[in-house]
Amino acid sequence: MIVLGIETSCDDTAAAILDSDASVLASVVSSQDAIHQRFGGIVPELASRRHMESITPIVNEAVSRAGVALADIDLIAVTRGPGLIGSLLVGFCYAKSLSYTLGVPYVGVDHMAGHLLSAFLEQSTPSFPYIALIVSGGTSSLFKVEDYNRFYLLGRTRDDAAGEAFDKIARYLELGYPGGPIVSRCAEGGNETALPLPRAWLEDDSLDFSFSGLKTAVINHCHRIMQVGRLTDQQLADTCASFQQAVIDVLIEKTIRATQLYTIDNVVLGGGVSANRSLREQMSQRCTTEGVELYLPSVENCTDNAAMIGFAGIQQFWAGDRGGFDDDVYSRSNLGR
Ligand code: KG4
Repeated sequence: MIVLGIETSCDDTAAAILDSDASVLASVVSSQDAIHQRFGGIVPELASRRHMESITPIVNEAVSRAGVALADIDLIAVTRGPGLIGSLLVGFCYAKSLSYTLGVPYVGVDHMAGHLLSAFLEQSTPSFPYIALIVSGGTSSLFKVEDYNRFYLLGRTRDDAAGEAFDKIARYLELGYPGGPIVSRCAEGGNETALPLPRAWLEDDSLDFSFSGLKTAVINHCHRIMQVGRLTDQQLADTCASFQQAVIDVLIEKTIRATQLYTIDNVVLGGGVSANRSLREQMSQRCTTEGVELYLPSVENCTDNAAMIGFAGIQQFWAGDRGGFDDDVYSRSNLGR
């Protein structure tokens, strides 16, 4: 079986080809960072227009790199939500049209399911059940994953997602977009204990997150300095390091709390923020201390890609799921609720 995965939920146009063992034959991602950089965030209308231009060449590129033909495709897996409606519609309508033209089934995949299963794209794969921390520009969530199609939402952000907080801090400091990699680079020469920033632990045993208070505290701190001058390089580095550490502390603590509450000793990380080197290192150290096995997908598999959508789609297909031509996209996920 040859499977075509398509992902256009946000600002990356991605296509992948997988075979019947769910091995990835090709995975192509076209980033739109250059388009959105000068706005300090994603402009939805520009994102969907670029998806329209990119979708056919990117699918063709994946097909050609995999050494197959469009006519060889047996199944199409496409992101149905959550995400930007205009962006989702481009990939979803393309997939439905191709499914109709080729006479093959398609399945609509929840983007979160892709992230939750992205560890299966690696050599060393987790066993069920596991706790998954998914942190990106659109979400910060903890799930219990019981098998390929059974996900339970344990906690989610009540306001900003972790990546969104990185992006907003970077925009405020005029550092560029996407903010995560830039803020983490600025943090390298900084002292993570320089600023006494808040950590939102919320209620006892709550696995929810909240990053907007932290973001406001950082902005207020910088605002006070900028009223009388500019941030020095060291102040900028200290601010970025202290902010990053405050995010990491909460992400790690809540993940470990979830493993203890549910007596689960496997953890998977996913989403763009899990590309953060300090988060990866500190999560690894803490999991070792706690006797928990950590599965860290490579950076390409953590960030948005179509291979994870293809993999999740295959699991749904084997479980009997089939997309209908009247199905529509959705902006918010109900996965695991
Ligand atoms: O999962 P993703 O590629 O796209 C979606 O949000 O769906 O994640 C992108 C997010 C952005 O907010 C970006 O700033 C953040 O991940 N990010 C990082 C790092 N690399 C990307 N955040 C912190 N540290 C990083 N190294």
